[in-house]
Amino acid sequence: MGRVFVAGSINMDVVATADRHPRVGETVAGRQVLYFPGGKGANQAVAAARLEAPTTLIGRLGKDAFGAELRAFLDSQGVDLGSVRETPEAHTGTAIITVAETDNTIVVIPGSNALVSAEDVAAVPLAKGDVAVSQFEIPLPTIAAFFARAREAGAKTLLNPAPAQKMSGELLGLVDILVLNETELGLLADIELTDNDPYDRIADAARHIRVNRDQIICVTLGKRGVIALVDDRLMSIQGRNVTPVDTTGAGDCFVGAVAALLADGQPIESALGYANVAASVSVQRMGAAPSMPTIAEVSAALRAERLSST
Ligand code: RIB
Ligand code: NA
Repeated sequence: MGRVFVAGSINMDVVATADRHPRVGETVAGRQVLYFPGGKGANQAVAAARLEAPTTLIGRLGKDAFGAELRAFLDSQGVDLGSVRETPEAHTGTAIITVAETDNTIVVIPGSNALVSAEDVAAVPLAKGDVAVSQFEIPLPTIAAFFARAREAGAKTLLNPAPAQKMSGELLGLVDILVLNETELGLLADIELTDNDPYDRIADAARHIRVNRDQIICVTLGKRGVIALVDDRLMSIQGRNVTPVDTTGAGDCFVGAVAALLADGQPIESALGYANVAASVSVQRMGAAPSMPTIAEVSAALRAERLSST
């Protein structure tokens, strides 16, 4: 069994819940303020660890109260934190999130995440069978250095280019599996895409950005599910009919689950199907990292689905 290595962001999510989002310039009364461990890197690492993949996180925290709290939480989840350094130069990454009507808006202040460097990923003991995972909340040159090392070691690379940002052809060329949503795909393909666009249009955009036939492109479409280009096939996985309470971190749950299954040697098709179920469990709970499901919880969701379809 391989290991999952996630180089990525760690944030404290400061969440305000309200009945509706304020318009620009408007103030609305909120219901609650909640503090949840988050950050795309940490969320993906927790998702993989809760699915029992041996998981290492590479990142940076500030020397402050949020940093200490996040470290304790991640440690309690079984994530290896040997490569998470403390930096006095910056505060711990923080996300200011508003959750209303089950949708969210997020402002991320990178803080210490902006300092994750190529040097931080240089000593990571990647090996064949491992999966190297990253996202766009740490500097892109760090990701390129990380993936170049992973390739040399024979590990797979999985990139979640979120939040949306353009990347070099060099970085895209280092990616084995790209998991992204329609907005991120639209930016990379230079077209306007919405999650209501027909599958064909989305698949064409995915084909357009793919660097070669071996690259797997997986587009997450929220409640419409997932479509993926695998070799010459276009796979589609239906969204599950659940009632979301907080979709923050659903994409991260998907990414972490895909990584966990690939590290376990499962084929990509099963990994994508399983990750789709895991993400549907995560949206039914508040918070990002704390909403990631265990194997038992994913199994229970699958059982419930089988029962209701017979
Ligand atoms: O993907 C969700 C995450 O994005 C949140 O946990 C928040 O920290 C932002 O980084
Ligand atoms: Na959630």
